[in-house]
Amino acid sequence: MKERYHIVVLPGDGVGPEVTAQALRVLREVERLLGVSFEVEEIPCGGAYYLEHGEEWPPGSYERCEAADAVFLGAVGHEVDGKPVMTEPGRPYPEPQLAGFAPVIGNRKRLNLYANVRPIKLYPGVRTRISGEFLTVWKPENVDYVIVRENTEDAYTGETHEIPGGKMTPIRITREATERVVRFAFRLARKRNKLGKVTCVDKSNIVGAHRFFREVFTEIGREEFPDIQLDYAYFDAFCQWQMRNPEWYDVVVAPNLVGDVISDNGATQQGGLGLAAGGNIGDEHAMFEPIHGSAPRHAGKDKANPMAAILAMKMLLEWLGERFSDGRLAQGAHLVEEAVRSVLQEGKTLTYDLVGEERAARCSEVGAAVCEKLARLAQG
Ligand code: IPM
Ligand code: MN
Repeated sequence: MKERYHIVVLPGDGVGPEVTAQALRVLREVERLLGVSFEVEEIPCGGAYYLEHGEEWPPGSYERCEAADAVFLGAVGHEVDGKPVMTEPGRPYPEPQLAGFAPVIGNRKRLNLYANVRPIKLYPGVRTRISGEFLTVWKPENVDYVIVRENTEDAYTGETHEIPGGKMTPIRITREATERVVRFAFRLARKRNKLGKVTCVDKSNIVGAHRFFREVFTEIGREEFPDIQLDYAYFDAFCQWQMRNPEWYDVVVAPNLVGDVISDNGATQQGGLGLAAGGNIGDEHAMFEPIHGSAPRHAGKDKANPMAAILAMKMLLEWLGERFSDGRLAQGAHLVEEAVRSVLQEGKTLTYDLVGEERAARCSEVGAAVCEKLARLAQG
């Protein structure tokens, strides 16, 4: 337990600052209701910052993230005339990259946040927008699994080589990175105590490096987690089964790029990216974020769904509570989730992505509704 928790907040670009503001509002409400104390340090970052300053964030920002108890990230990616702002070659990467990689990909690697945890959970009352219609496709009791995405390697090495006639980007899979992420997934399956199963999703029928990922998964599972069932799927087939039979899954572990794709796919089952939260978790540090992007065309309109950011804040509280054995934070996380569940179920104060433009509430109204529920729940 700590007197005060130091949270670094990186609001970023586009709708990032708006949804972050609502997540912070919820954090402050938890502070008020449960007697915990947070020191919030906001650091500007992203593509818009790069345009103005020629750097993705102020010098020393990485060290500030390292010193924090936890990091919260909004979204990065800025556009000018519909084109994403990229860094200039050599500044600071050899090749142009989306300006904002330092806080996202950089923090993941430098802080060793090796597991990207993305719960796929459908809350009661949420419908999924398909071809403009709001449909009930899945039942909440069937959609409750967690994708654990390896977060430091695979196709995310940042390397691209010239080859005759084109370019080549390598896929790197190491034993060390694979062991730690699969152990994380197995431990999570134990803790969830649901199906007692971990599914390894990869493209090992084609990609040799993924075959190695699968081998390490099998070895660690058999040797260290005999109580957990080992399950396998090729990534293409998984995309289909994930939609058709989500109830088959409990914990899913995947190489980085595969995990990136299947988690956006899974977001559809939760009611869309507006509800999808993730945690980048290591042994010493963690960074939480809504998994949606910066959605530049919706920026500044108080329109975006803040639920994903609020649920990411819930994950932050949960992680902090465990790390520092602070029951108040665990309680806070629980209450935030219950407040979100209740606002979703009531269906009165929801953004356009969940109910359409005509009935839509503003981003800030949703934040206020969650805080109101939270206060009511805390008072019992
Ligand atoms: C995500 C995002 C990032 C990724 C982008 C913004 C680099 O899509 O967090 O899933 O590919 O990891
Ligand atoms: Mn993604």
